[in-house]
Amino acid sequence: MVAITFIEFNGTRHDVEVAEGATAMEAAVRNGVPGITAECGGACACATCHVYVGEGWQDKVGEPSEMEEGMLDFATDVRPSSRLSCQIRMTEALNGLVLHTPEFQG
Ligand code: FES
Repeated sequence: MVAITFIEFNGTRHDVEVAEGATAMEAAVRNGVPGITAECGGACACATCHVYVGEGWQDKVGEPSEMEEGMLDFATDVRPSSRLSCQIRMTEALNGLVLHTPEFQG
């Protein structure tokens, strides 16, 4: 299991655990973390799983693929740290990852 901390726009923290190989989006949905609607179920086709990668984690998480970048254009308030959480696959190297959820999706 690997740990992820989701922090809502209002500062509320959610510490969750997920099996390696699952996506950060799945971790959020399974644990009822508010702010991630994931309407397409992880197909990189909706941008409603938008998150901001926490400070210090961007290098480890890596850059979005071209397809993800294209879909991020549909997200609100996109920043340099923006990613789609269904495209972040959890590995041991990402244990302890911090993700911030945006105030609005879509
Ligand atoms: Fe739809 Fe991530 S769940 S793009």
